[in-house]
Amino acid sequence: MSDKRPAPAGTAVISDQAPEGSRRASAGSLRVRELTIALPGPRGMAEVVDGVSFDMAEGRTTGLIGESGSGKSLTAMALVGLVPDTAVVSGQVLLGEENLLTAGRARIRQVRGAEISVVFQDPSTALNPTMTIGDQVGEILWGRGVSRAQARERAVELLEHVGIPDAAHRVGAYPHEFSGGMRQRAMIALALAGEPRFILADEPTTALDVTVQARILDLLGRLRDEDNLSMLLVSHDLRVMSHVADDLVVMYAGRVCERGAARTVLRTPLHPYTGALVRSVPSVRVGSAIADPLPGSPANPFDRPPGCPFNPRCPRAEDRCRTEVPALREIAPGRLSACHFAEELS
Ligand SMILES: Nc1ncnc2c1ncn2[C@@H]1O[C@H](COP(=O)(O)OP(=O)(O)OP(=O)(O)O)[C@@H](O)[C@H]1O
Ligand code: SF4
Ligand SMILES: [Mg+2]
Repeated sequence: MSDKRPAPAGTAVISDQAPEGSRRASAGSLRVRELTIALPGPRGMAEVVDGVSFDMAEGRTTGLIGESGSGKSLTAMALVGLVPDTAVVSGQVLLGEENLLTAGRARIRQVRGAEISVVFQDPSTALNPTMTIGDQVGEILWGRGVSRAQARERAVELLEHVGIPDAAHRVGAYPHEFSGGMRQRAMIALALAGEPRFILADEPTTALDVTVQARILDLLGRLRDEDNLSMLLVSHDLRVMSHVADDLVVMYAGRVCERGAARTVLRTPLHPYTGALVRSVPSVRVGSAIADPLPGSPANPFDRPPGCPFNPRCPRAEDRCRTEVPALREIAPGRLSACHFAEELS
């Protein structure tokens, strides 16, 4: 078993190392630079995602975490051009040297599924209720010149790969004949059919009960290692992140407030918001059994407070925090924080 597989609930096993022995060719990173998404709000256009930068590094799981409304889904979906019609998007999403934000619709459709696949929270978003699971996987392969018989064979292989028992028989079943966890596995099989290098998973386990959740997270960890996939895992749940993320991007009110290797970010947060998140989840906070809920409510990205957006909730806030927006800066190698006083937290 790989040392990067998720641990049982309550223990955090997070590797800072890239996996070895992966069977795919080098995929490189997907680089997100200064991604900004403006949407119409009560006071005109507002940058609800503002200057977000991070890398989805090869063979690693990058966790995108933050409270509801912090811009996680908008950020993740923008990587494959899935933004609201009213959105104005700027910045760069670099696949190699190609900026996907300026690629045409046809090219983005080509990229989606073949290079970058999406796993949604709700399998009904991706699965067609009127087609068998096998035909849905097969449909992707037929488009690639594979024969019907070969496509069915590959569909069975993929269903086996994602842990669906009796795959040779289940390949002929419809989505409603599957349990919630099995539908999620089938959606992951569908996402893998085009052999993507990058997977975007937006709250992929939130709708599942805890036991099934752990199995799906285990599966995603195994696929990352075996297929050398780079994953972006979006979740508001720090327990999920502490089990599977290699790198963390912490978002607050549409901006990145902290970034770094997950293990070190969770052990020694360099932003008071991350610190408050960690304290709010006892199983993540080492040596603590007591939850310390976050004070106040999340900032509205359509109407951020001036200065640091976290200042109304921050116990360390000083006058400067109410007027001066803190820049995201490198505090230690690979560790970035957008707090004026990050050095004092290390
Ligand atoms: N289609 C849209 N039109 C207008 N506003 C939107 C739209 N989609 C998202 N927003 C707003 O943009 C902000 C960020 O939304 P987003 O869905 O990215 O948050 P999130 O971090 O994924 O939250 P959650 O944890 O609840 O899924 C929120 O204030 C949300 O209301
Ligand atoms: S910049 Fe100020 S308000 Fe913002 S997190 Fe740091 S101390 Fe708190
Ligand atoms: Mg979301």
